[in-house]
Order: sequence, then C-alpha cells, then structure tokens
Amino acid sequence: MIDKKNILIGVTGGIAAYKVVEVASRLKKSGANVRVMMTLAATEFVSPRTFEEITGNAVFVEMFGDAAHFHVAHVALADFADLILIAPATANFLAKAAHGIADDLLTTTILASDKPLLIAPSMNTKMFMNSATQDNLKVLKARGVKILEPAVGELACGTSGKGRLPEPVEICAVVEKFFASEPILSGKRILVTAGGTIEAIDPVRYIGNRSSGRMGYEIAKSAMNSGAEVVLVSGKSEVEPPDGLKAFIKVESALQMRDEVLKHFETVDCVIMSAAVADYRVKNPSAQKIKKSDEILTLELVKNPDILRELGTLKKSQVLVGFAAETQNILEYANKKLAEKNLDFIVANDVTAEGAGFGVSTNIASIIWRNGTVESFSKMSKADLAEKIIERVEKTLCH
Ligand code: C5P
Repeated sequence: MIDKKNILIGVTGGIAAYKVVEVASRLKKSGANVRVMMTLAATEFVSPRTFEEITGNAVFVEMFGDAAHFHVAHVALADFADLILIAPATANFLAKAAHGIADDLLTTTILASDKPLLIAPSMNTKMFMNSATQDNLKVLKARGVKILEPAVGELACGTSGKGRLPEPVEICAVVEKFFASEPILSGKRILVTAGGTIEAIDPVRYIGNRSSGRMGYEIAKSAMNSGAEVVLVSGKSEVEPPDGLKAFIKVESALQMRDEVLKHFETVDCVIMSAAVADYRVKNPSAQKIKKSDEILTLELVKNPDILRELGTLKKSQVLVGFAAETQNILEYANKKLAEKNLDFIVANDVTAEGAGFGVSTNIASIIWRNGTVESFSKMSKADLAEKIIERVEKTLCH
C-alpha cells in the first residue's frame, strides 16, 4: 500500500529518536521512498549518517548547509512528501508547530507544506500533560493534523506514565492505514455555491436575503475533508471561508453567480447549489443614490435566471444537488424542483422551524431522491448535515 509513496520523516531531539531508525527502515522495506530531516538536537541522539545508510537518501539538518544542493530545501522537501511524519515530536516542536515558528529546516518545511502531517509526540509525562503542551496539541488537531497518542509505560527519565513513543511497528501501521484510506473524493472536483446574492437598487442600497453562508461553507469544508478539490462561489456571507479551497470566488448578484458557475461547470463532477439566489433583480438600478421624495417608491423587478435549472439542462455526468428553503408544503415544492431542475437529490427544509434555516448553526432537513425516497433528519449542526450531504454525493459519484 505504501509502495512508491514519498514519506518525509522529521526527527526532533528526543531520546526515542533511536526508535525512528527502525521506522525508517520498515517503511523503506515496504517500498516507500523515505527522506529524513532532523533538528540539530536530534543529531545528538542519532547520527544523520545512520538515517542516510537506512534510507539511501541525504539527510537534511541545517537550513543553509548540507541541504544547499537540494534547491530551496524546505520547499523541495515539502513538495516531495505525500505524508510528513514527525517522530519523536518534542514539546518544543509542538509549541513551534502550533504557533508557526520556523527557526530551523524542519519547522520551516512544516510551515511551507500543505501535505498531511502525522505527529508522534514523545516526552516525559509531566511535559506531555502540561496545559501548554495540551493546548498546542488542541491547536494542531483543530488544523487537521493527526496526532499519534503516546503510549503509557516506562520512560527514559526513569519515571513511568504517558509519553512513550509507540513501537515502530505501530507507527508504521498508522502510516500504512493513512495510505490505505485514501479519501473517497480524491481526484473529484466539486463546485459549491453559498450565501445570498444581493441585487443593487442604487450604489448604496440592495435587495438581499437572510442567508448566512454557514450551510454552504460547511458543505465546502466537508467535501474537502473527503479529499475533493472545492471551488466555492459565494454571495454575501457572515462566515470566513475554510482553508484549503481550490478557489474562492466572491460574487454579489445572481447574474455574477451564474457567470462564475457556468465558467466552472464543464470541469466539475458535482455542483451543490446551497446559495440563496435572488429570484428577481431591479430592472434599472439607479447610477446615483435615490433621493427621498415621493411617499411611494416603486421598484420594477425582473426575473433572474434560475442557475440550477440551467445546469439541469446542460448536465452530462455531473451530480446536481439543490436546496429548497420553504415556509410551507415543503415536500411537495421540493419534489417539484427536483424534477423541474433535473437534480440528483434535493435538500429541503422549513426555514421557519426553530433550529433550522437562516442565521442559526443547526438545521432540520429532508433529502429527497429521484425515486421518491425521502430521508428525514432530526435537528443537527450544519456541519453534521453537510457531512450527510457529502456522504450521499460520494455514493452517487462513486457507485
Ligand atoms: O426555485 P428555488 O429558488 O426555490 O430553488 C432553490 C434552489 O435553486 C437552490 O438550490 C438555489 O441555489 C437554486 N437557485 C438557482 N437560481 C435561482 C434561484 C435558485 O440556482 N435564480
């Protein structure tokens, strides 16, 4: 499973560094291409030459020394890796990684990398349990870094407790598992729309809606977690876009959203239209701010194109997912849209129900399929509902 995979091992200055010689050796024997970078402190425990002999590759320690022949070493090393394994990871390393400190080759490489990171901390129990270390681990986990929990047992300092580096065979098993479970949507491109469009009345005012963008941003995040490349086209939103998007395209009006969606449609495998697109726009928005005068101001509105309906007619193999935010007759209206817009499934919700719809972090939804199947979910976080939606996209795309 790890044959020909590029694994970059970062060794920091803990006594357990000697165990990582066996880790490198096992991974190499399993067919992986292994490179090692070490902190200066790590070289006090194991000689770089040992790793060089084991891996057949030069070992990188200093930012401006031995690595000079490997063009811009930290960038090249980061690019090389399919996975970066830090073992043993000291408390000092965890603190630096959590705060983005890059003061040697190893930490600079981590900062220059967007590759999956697996960290195996090893240290004295009190250091491990110290809230500074625990807080740093929390920060790293929240960023998606995988932490291999230390084992409990005798420690080099003569005490016993949690902090031992797991045995090399266990570390290698985790690495194998990482490659075995290649994310299901890897290689797939998904376009997500989110937020609400705004339609100008004049340079100051607009017609908008109550969409916060939360649902769509969670869907984008969940699709990325499953390995998809995600393009997020967003109207007005109250939340920050997630890290790691292939593209983040901000738009204002329905017409702009339509242009951007059509531009990408040919190249994506799936479109999830969670945006609240305005059905009408002002026919002739004023070039100047409209002044107060008459008692009644009449705005003439014209219909916006229905983006999703258009995609339904252009659709080839793409999976199309729509949303139906309703205030009454939810299933009936949703079913109608599902058919009219040629969708694979539609996510329907009653936006007036408590804990559902705009502005809140939860939702209560049903998913309706072409064959008439209805899946009704109880109240759950938008993040959980996003996961359910992406699981169904996976099934539709990959089966
Ligand atoms: O017809 P209705 O607006 O209720 O349909 C909602 C679904 O259609 C949503 O997925 C929404 O993003 C999409 N939509 C669209 N273009 C519009 C209006 C809605 O793509 N002009």
